[in-house]
Amino acid sequence: MLEKKPVLFMLLATAAILVGTIITMAMPFLWVNTDADRIETVTPYTPIQQEGRDIYIREGCNNCHTQTVRPLVAEVLRYGDYSKSGEFVYDRPFLWGSRRTGPDLARLGGKYPDAWHYKHMESPRSMVPQTNMPDYPWLNDTALDPESIRNKMETLGFPYTEEQIKELNGKTEMDAMVAYLQKLGSDIPWRKVAETTIVGDLTNPFPGDASAIAAGKDVYSSNCAACHGDNLEGMIGPALTDMGMEDADLYQVIHSGIPDGGMPGFSNLGSTKLWQLVNFINAEK
Ligand code: HEC
Ligand code: HEC
Repeated sequence: MLEKKPVLFMLLATAAILVGTIITMAMPFLWVNTDADRIETVTPYTPIQQEGRDIYIREGCNNCHTQTVRPLVAEVLRYGDYSKSGEFVYDRPFLWGSRRTGPDLARLGGKYPDAWHYKHMESPRSMVPQTNMPDYPWLNDTALDPESIRNKMETLGFPYTEEQIKELNGKTEMDAMVAYLQKLGSDIPWRKVAETTIVGDLTNPFPGDASAIAAGKDVYSSNCAACHGDNLEGMIGPALTDMGMEDADLYQVIHSGIPDGGMPGFSNLGSTKLWQLVNFINAEK
């Protein structure tokens, strides 16, 4: 009987455990980060983006924000194309996270213009009144240290040019943070692919209706004023007066946004609120 032969038993048990270890632990090292996972358009971080990433870690942004879109319908609809393993090859360490007090940021790049990020980082409540995200105004106060960033790039083995190091002079931690946020998820041209056209009837259900216009004003204040100004006069986004847009075209723009133009889509508001907005904006012209 085997259990009466301790040495043989031990050797066989060790062999069995080793086989399990190799299959579950060693083999995956060969399977991940292979050429098959690589995505050609994914590039390493530039010096300023890499520094922004380190500040992101230092400030603990990852305690409230994840950076991975899971392949679930609800997530893809909310955030965009789900994450692929090849997108993380230059992330050291990765920042997938596990807590979403704030939204996922994996597909953030290009969603907003730079100017929105500067204001939102300084004072999130100036852009999103109900948010509990802390203010980070002091990121404006600390200048970047080009030499230490050069060391980081060398340690990580990422390519950089002297031009890029020189450009860091006079830049602040805030500039680095915004550069990093705009890089997130933008290596993949998913925004263009996801561009949607609404098919079906786009007839204004309440043309010129006074209560729809009043309701549209409220929807505008909470969703659009931060970028287009309290009175449609324009700010981060263009003025919305005198646009001369047909109701249906205006509906389409607000519904789907302008990919890579910094105008987010608002399909989540639902068609009633979107039509109220259209009536409000077109009544103001
Ligand atoms: C206490 C939790 C918390 C922390 C810490 C936090 N955030 Fe947020 N963040 C939020 C919440 C909630 C929102 C959603 C409302 C808003 O836009 O402010 C948000 C939104 C954002 C957005 C807009 C995302 C979008 O798609 O609209 C960005 C960008 C962002 N945070 C970046 C950061 C960065 C960078 C840091 C670290 C310097 C950080 N956050 C720290 C809670 C947090
Ligand atoms: C994060 C900032 C931001 C928010 C919030 C925002 N917009 Fe925009 N919007 C922009 C920017 C930037 C542009 C210009 C995009 C371009 O032309 O490439 C734009 C363009 C537009 C245009 C097209 C203007 C033209 O002359 O072609 C319309 C219409 C518009 N926005 C309506 C809205 C409405 C309605 C809301 C609220 C539901 C809204 N926007 C919220 C930033 C924003």
